[in-house]
Amino acid sequence: MKAVVYDRYGAPDVLRLEEVERPVPVEDEVLMKIHASTVNRLDVHTREANVKSGAVVSLLSRLVSGVRRPRQRILGSEFAGEVAAVGPAVTGFAVGDHVFGNTGLAFGTHAEFMCMKESARIAQMPAGASFEEAAAITDGALNALWCLRVADLRKGQTIVVYGASGAIGTAGVQLAKYFGADVTAVCNTKNLELVRSLGADSVIDYTKDDFTKNGQTYDVIFDAVGKHSFKRSKGSLKPRGIYLATDGFRNLFLALWTSRFGQKKVMFQLPPRYAKKDILFLKELVEAGKYRAVIDRCYQLEDVVEAARYVETQQKTGNVVLTINGGRAR
Ligand SMILES: NC(=O)c1ccc[n+]([C@@H]2O[C@H](COP(=O)([O-])OP(=O)(O)OC[C@H]3O[C@@H](n4cnc5c(N)ncnc54)[C@H](OP(=O)(O)O)[C@@H]3O)[C@@H](O)[C@H]2O)c1
Repeated sequence: MKAVVYDRYGAPDVLRLEEVERPVPVEDEVLMKIHASTVNRLDVHTREANVKSGAVVSLLSRLVSGVRRPRQRILGSEFAGEVAAVGPAVTGFAVGDHVFGNTGLAFGTHAEFMCMKESARIAQMPAGASFEEAAAITDGALNALWCLRVADLRKGQTIVVYGASGAIGTAGVQLAKYFGADVTAVCNTKNLELVRSLGADSVIDYTKDDFTKNGQTYDVIFDAVGKHSFKRSKGSLKPRGIYLATDGFRNLFLALWTSRFGQKKVMFQLPPRYAKKDILFLKELVEAGKYRAVIDRCYQLEDVVEAARYVETQQKTGNVVLTINGGRAR
């Protein structure tokens, strides 16, 4: 089968298409013919061993992914596809089922086929979704769900989603709305209409206005793109307000510090924990029309280097999809 592999950390051109052995499902494993995946920020950070975040984070990244070279040669964590074979102990899936899910740090989805345990984060695809749509559901949503749960976001609370046009941001706006919060979304001019269509109660164009200067205070400020800071947000938080981080080593220390001192808290819990039930929850939300994956561009698997370069610009809107084995199906 064809897969995109890499043998050393570095820029997008370390990725190359290679013929590799097709996996065989054993026991409780499901073999999937993958029809779509995504290139996301987890792929980018892992491929470059997080060098842009400094030496300490880069070392931690290598301890997870392989010190000298990547242990897992195939990146990609999101997938949608079709069950091609099942191991003898599999009871919940059958050949031909359309499935989607997320492999997380196990990666392996930038390939024509992949095996995973049926108890892992895999579920039947939401009814009516294409493979491309289903593949883009999980990354931003699992990240956002984890953060909003950590903050215990509740009905009637006010939240700012800063960086509302990214993978986590577009998911954050929709999920915060689902939890009953009043959502202020902050993004660039070109994405104002999009984030409004995702359910934001108010939108702020960060190129024209600074939400920290509008005199309002909020229960939660969700920095969904890692470009804001607790320092800049503090004055806009209510007395027991929470700054929710998605990135930045310093936020780990601030989370520790504010857990003991001061009323306003920084929350940044690593590693995030995602469960199979979260995938099932997202499937229900999609089917109920309460969640949709925002797709910016679709690339063919062969064009993964170009896709990775685009994701690295940090300017994608929502998600970037890779079409594999022809994609499609609705
Ligand atoms: N997704 C993951 O798997 C993952 C994993 C680990 C960590 N993270 C971290 O989580 C954060 C968000 O990830 P993501 O995948 O959601 O990011 P993303 O999709 O790459 O975010 C891109 C979006 O952010 C907006 N943006 C860029 N600069 C901005 C700024 N200064 N103010 C407001 N918006 C800005 C861009 O729109 P404009 O340029 O038009 O403003 C674009 O729509 C990142 O810090 C990432 O490192 C993500």
